[in-house]
Amino acid sequence: MREAKAVVDPARVEAIIAEYQHQRWALVPLLQRIQQEFGFIPPDSIGLIARGMKLFPAQVQAVISFYAQLYTAPRGKNTVRVCRGTACHVRGGKTILKLVKQHLGIDEGETTPDLEYTLETVACIGVCAIAPNMVINDVTYGRMNPKKVSQVLGQRDKTS
Ligand code: FES
Repeated sequence: MREAKAVVDPARVEAIIAEYQHQRWALVPLLQRIQQEFGFIPPDSIGLIARGMKLFPAQVQAVISFYAQLYTAPRGKNTVRVCRGTACHVRGGKTILKLVKQHLGIDEGETTPDLEYTLETVACIGVCAIAPNMVINDVTYGRMNPKKVSQVLGQRDKTS
């Protein structure tokens, strides 16, 4: 799996942890704060967080895994979500996902090396009537087809 890299200052991580030290109830706010600072929770920081909060690293990792909005890898500026729900699937969603992967050069769960895009799939975004669907950030693109994939992502390439 290809992963985008980002530089993280460990001293900055420790300074944030110090603000919450020993307050176990504050683990989630601390994790959110670290993610806000770096765009993700650096894996190297998990041991530091555990020590600061008097927890085991596995406990910190379990909390991160529980919350879908906490990430341990850099995320792209834009999140592309392709629907894998039944309605989208029967109307060509699988082809849409394949084309999006080809266009971005990444697989599901991955981020482009320039940190521009993260690709995810979702079970259903609730607009089955206009399937197959793709969402970029908060914008839904319905009735997707191969030409539209090129148009939407190609247009974004030009503006980014
Ligand atoms: S299955 Fe894709 S929007 Fe519902």
